[in-house]
Amino acid sequence: MGTKYISEAIAGAGFLPEKGKIVWESPSNIALIKYWGKYGQQYPENPSLSMSLKKSVSIVELIFQKNTNKKGTVDFKFEGKENQSFKKRVDNYLQQLSGYFPFLKDLHLEINSYNTFPHSSGIASSASFMSALALCLCSLEKFSQNIFDNTFYQKASFMARLGSGSASRSVYGEYAFWGKNSGISGSSDEYAVSFTNHIPEKLQTIYDAIIIINSAPKKISSSQGHQLMQNHFYKENRLQQANTNIFRLIDAISSNNWSSMTEVIENEALSLHALMLSSCPGYILLQQQTIDTIDAIRKFRDDSGAQVCFTLDAGPNVHVLYPEEDKKQVEPFIDQKLKPLAENNHIIYDKTGDGPVLREKEKR
Ligand code: DP6
Repeated sequence: MGTKYISEAIAGAGFLPEKGKIVWESPSNIALIKYWGKYGQQYPENPSLSMSLKKSVSIVELIFQKNTNKKGTVDFKFEGKENQSFKKRVDNYLQQLSGYFPFLKDLHLEINSYNTFPHSSGIASSASFMSALALCLCSLEKFSQNIFDNTFYQKASFMARLGSGSASRSVYGEYAFWGKNSGISGSSDEYAVSFTNHIPEKLQTIYDAIIIINSAPKKISSSQGHQLMQNHFYKENRLQQANTNIFRLIDAISSNNWSSMTEVIENEALSLHALMLSSCPGYILLQQQTIDTIDAIRKFRDDSGAQVCFTLDAGPNVHVLYPEEDKKQVEPFIDQKLKPLAENNHIIYDKTGDGPVLREKEKR
């Protein structure tokens, strides 16, 4: 796919107006089957399956200008302010994409990014930000067209993947699958595909209350965590586990069997952290309140019979998942028992989202 994109790349910016603006909004996502471990150019060691969120989104504005002496340069602002470490990541990313979008060298870009979720909420913004930026670049390349078909999203997913693996899944709404698995037709290590057609109506919206246990930046980033998988003692078994869990989860979802879904989703979350604990060197991102939250959810589920389960990102925060029909029972429990465990009582009530939205595209 990469060679095809390079061979069809547009060399110069002649097709673009003097100045213009593109704005995409793109969601964060939560993986139910976790991507953990990568190789080469951001290829995943195992396939993953995620749900895109509705409220937790990034908005990226890309303003381009042709006739300027600042060609080939980028100004970047996050939440209206310059941010050197993000700017460096954006510069590296655009550098990496120069073979796919060679016309960028003829433009000055101004990129502004905003999140609807607080920056210091512990929610990773790389998936939402990188997917929104990739969508802006793919729209820029097709400036005079407005065709948002499968080919467009596939390319955006490919480009997003090069920025951050999980971002490849955020170009789709509802559910997305990334990584080659012979049982899933169309699946690829190079881009994610929409998985929504495999999900029954009843589960097309799942609620996700994110219990913010700690909003501080993580001691070990996901990228470092992926690297530690390279020589992990359990690597082969993890690959088998993820590929088995994919089908266990698909079976559970297609039969709308919440208790089987719970088993797989919680197994994935705890296995992710078990892999961190057993890396060399091992590390711990779970906190006491994470464990207390998990215990409280499991006790509530045993006592009430409610359909509710948890998942975790590569951090201490807990995502509490429940279907529409159990919302009335689960949300009072979250308010009474889980809120006190959250940092500053901070909970983000989110749910399955419809995916990215093009907010603006105009000539200036
Ligand atoms: C635990 O996509 O953040 O959230 O590819 O290095 O940017 P990079 O990593 P990233 O890793 C996400 C890991 C995870 C699981 C998942 O989202 O599948």
